[in-house]
Amino acid sequence: MKESGAPSSSTHKSSTEQDAAATLAVINCAQFVTLRGAQKARAGREEMRELGLIEDGAMLVRDGRIAAVGARSVIEPQIESDCEVVDAGGRVVLPGFVDAHTHAVFAGTRVDEYEMRASGATYREIADAGGGIRATVRRTRAASEDELVETAKRYARRFLRGGTTTIEAKSGYGLTVEDELKMLRAIRRLNKETPLRLVPTFLGAHEVPDEFRERRTDYVELIIEEMLPRVAAENLAAYCDVFCEKGVFDEEESRRILLTAKALGFGLRIHADQLSRGGGTALAAELGATTADHLEHTNAEGIAALRAGNVQPVLLPGAVYALGSNRYPQAREMIDAGLAVVLATDFNPGSSPTTSMQMILSIASTHMKMTPAESLTACTINAAYSLNLGNETGSLEAGKRADFAIYDLGDYRELAYFFGVEHTHAVYANGNPVFRRDS
Ligand code: NIG
Ligand code: FE
Repeated sequence: MKESGAPSSSTHKSSTEQDAAATLAVINCAQFVTLRGAQKARAGREEMRELGLIEDGAMLVRDGRIAAVGARSVIEPQIESDCEVVDAGGRVVLPGFVDAHTHAVFAGTRVDEYEMRASGATYREIADAGGGIRATVRRTRAASEDELVETAKRYARRFLRGGTTTIEAKSGYGLTVEDELKMLRAIRRLNKETPLRLVPTFLGAHEVPDEFRERRTDYVELIIEEMLPRVAAENLAAYCDVFCEKGVFDEEESRRILLTAKALGFGLRIHADQLSRGGGTALAAELGATTADHLEHTNAEGIAALRAGNVQPVLLPGAVYALGSNRYPQAREMIDAGLAVVLATDFNPGSSPTTSMQMILSIASTHMKMTPAESLTACTINAAYSLNLGNETGSLEAGKRADFAIYDLGDYRELAYFFGVEHTHAVYANGNPVFRRDS
């Protein structure tokens, strides 16, 4: 056996794949949070609290995939002589987080608006005055694909160092055919050029761009007639999303766009009930959407619709926190109604500029009364299933990708309890080291 060297924090997939040892063993773990179990998203209180915890465990990795996880006494005798051994030092091991809702590709920041909001302006007021999403659209249109990729690589490193190994990433700051394609091509390149796994979503219906303000129907037509067919033809997105909200895209516009997307083979996601209650949840159920996201204003009726339509709620408490609101979605009611809840960062330059899933876990337990176990289920296995990756990642089980992180903790509940501290000790994606803390 040879002890593992320090993983570098910014290696690219191509080089790490060549360098990776054929066989890796992770030993001496206080807790392995495996999330093993039924091959499906975990729905309701009982399933979401079952973490498949292994105390004093070990794991074997072969060619980037998990070969075995179990008690140390069972796994250690299987370690071969040429195996690279990672001593977790009595720490906690979790699956890599799956962040199922991000807007990770954009140019510039909105730190000016952050300052305005700190001085009393609201997100809605800033948006109505031409800022908000439209401000990022202007900057993103002005950026080249290369520039978007370079900027997003910095964020990709942040995701990885925080223990996130897969993200969903949306377009939606281009809002012209070419600029939307540019964003999606940037996402495709990031998938190849960084160790982060990205699932692309087309969000041409994120906002009505300035030049279409007086003829918004034409913009809906542009999405339906040109954008969606081009995105489909170039195979640039797995999902289509719509911001269904008063003053943005109404229920009927959202339906038309999503029906076209469905016919072209896209999975569906919807920004629903974020700033006001609308028809987004009913629409998600009607169209068989995979997820309905945000849901800050969703009530019992909306929850029943999601349940009836087998739609996964994706809750984004970072956007509530960062907008200074206290209107968190009714996570407790959703879980108790038997839904397979997902938690995600909503990383974007306006409403939620965080890549930190640890931050989201803290808000979820403190403000939404999700237990630490429920929260972890929500951002690992449930999130993976919401992206059709449940067979690939989101739990530590034989056959899955070796996406995992070692945390400098003795108990998984400390992850959110000691809030505001980055606890990752080392992070692996596809069995390759992608981050290691030096001290
Ligand atoms: O999910 N709601 C719409 N989209 C984002 C905000 C994007 C932005 O402010 O740039 C969200 O919160
Ligand atoms: Fe969003």
